[in-house]
Amino acid sequence: MKLNFDNDAVRAQFPAVDRKINGNPCIYLDGPGGTQVPQRVVDKISEYLLHHNANAHGCYVTSLETEAIMENGREVLADFLGCEKDEVAFGESTTGNNIKLAFALARDLKPGDEVIITDIDHEGNRSPWKLLADFGAIIKSVKVDKETFTLSFDDYKEKLSSKTKVVAINWASNATGTITDVKKYIDLAHEVGAITIVDAVHYAPHKPMDVKAIGTDFLVCSAYKFFGPHLGVIYTKKETISGIRTVRVDAYDNAEPPEKFETGTPNFELISGTSEAVEFIADIGKKYVDHYKEELKGLKGRRKNIVSGMLAFDEYEEEMSLVLKNGLLEIPGVTVYCPPSNEPKTSTVSFTVKDKNAHDVAIYLANKGIFMWDGDFYAIEIINNVLKLEEQGGFVRLGLAPYNTMEEIIRTIEAVKEYCKL
Ligand SMILES: Cc1ncc(COP(=O)(O)O)c(C=O)c1O
Repeated sequence: MKLNFDNDAVRAQFPAVDRKINGNPCIYLDGPGGTQVPQRVVDKISEYLLHHNANAHGCYVTSLETEAIMENGREVLADFLGCEKDEVAFGESTTGNNIKLAFALARDLKPGDEVIITDIDHEGNRSPWKLLADFGAIIKSVKVDKETFTLSFDDYKEKLSSKTKVVAINWASNATGTITDVKKYIDLAHEVGAITIVDAVHYAPHKPMDVKAIGTDFLVCSAYKFFGPHLGVIYTKKETISGIRTVRVDAYDNAEPPEKFETGTPNFELISGTSEAVEFIADIGKKYVDHYKEELKGLKGRRKNIVSGMLAFDEYEEEMSLVLKNGLLEIPGVTVYCPPSNEPKTSTVSFTVKDKNAHDVAIYLANKGIFMWDGDFYAIEIINNVLKLEEQGGFVRLGLAPYNTMEEIIRTIEAVKEYCKL
C-alpha cells in the first residue's frame, strides 16, 4: 500500500520553508550540504544554554543536568545507529572524527601496511586516511565505474590483502547518491583482520541504519545532514575501540569508551540539539508504524519509531526523486548522473547542462529561489578526476528532504527547462 505521508505536518515544524526570494517561495534542495532544522531542535539548544549551561562532573544542579543531557544524547543516537549507548561518541565534524581516528590508528601502523579508500568518497573520508602515508602506509583507492557510478568490488578484492590494516568505505555517495553494499566490503576486510570505517554522512538522512547488521568497527555521520546542528557523531564498536590507543589527554575520566574517543569539553548544547533531531524523526515515525509493520518486526520503543520515520522519509522522497530524474532526463542537453535504476541510491539527483558551467545553472536557479549546490562538494576524485568535470564546474546537485513537495519538484524541472531554452 502506498504511504500517505503527512508533508504538511513536517513543513509546519520548519520555519525556513516560509521564506521567499524575489517573490518566489524558497525551495530547499540543498539537504546533502545540510538540511533545514525544525523549531524544536533550535528550542532545545536554546533551552540548554539558557537553563542548564555548565561543564560536566560538578556536584551542582546544572552540571548534573548537563551530564544527564550527554547521557541522553548517547542513548538517543544509539537508537538511531542500532548500537549500545557507550558506543556513541561526539566530535566537531565527521572530518574531525576521521582525522582523530586516523592519528590513533597511525600509532600502531608499520611501514608497508596498507590502507584502502575509495574513489567515490568525499575527501572527509579520503584525506584523513591519505595522511597515513606520512607514517609509512601505502594507500590504495578502489575504482568507480564511469558509466554506472558504482564501486568496483572486483578492484576492491584485488587491492585487499593480509597487508590491509584499514578500509574506509562509503555507504552513500554525496555526488551521485549511489548506495554501496558496505557489508560485503566489511566482511572481506574482517577476513584479513583490517579495521573498517563507514562514511554514512549522506546515507544517514535517507535510510535507517543498523551498525550491528553491517558489522563495521566505526561509522561516521554528521547531525547537520539529518535536521540537527553542526556536530559529528561516531559509532565506535566496543571491542575494537578498547584495543586502540586513541589521541587523548592523560586523565582518569576519559580512559574508557566512549569518552576515550572524545577530546576536550564536549559541545553539550549541540549534543542536546542532535538528540532532539532524532526525536523529531521518531515522532514522525510513530505515525507510520502500522504502515511498516513487516519491516519493523522485532524492533521496540524509540528505535522502532526512528526506523519507521526513516522508512517514511525514504519512501516519500523516492517518488519525488523519480519524477525529478525523469523530468530532467527529458530536457535536451541535460545529463543526469545517477546509478542505473536496478542499483540502490538515495533520492539525490545530480546533473549537468551541455556546454554550460554548473555554476551558471546554479545562479539561475538560486535567483528563482531554488537552493542547491554546484561544484564537486569535496567528492573531488569522482567528479574532477574520474568524470573530469572540473572545467565545467562539476555537477548541479538536487537533494530531497521530507519537507520538500512534489510541487517544488515540478517548479524546479520547469526552471531547468527555461534555463536550457535561454
Ligand atoms: C559523504 C560525506 N562524507 C563526509 C562529509 C564531511 O562531513 P563534515 O562536514 O561533518 O566533516 C560530507 C559533507 O558534506 C559528506 O557529504
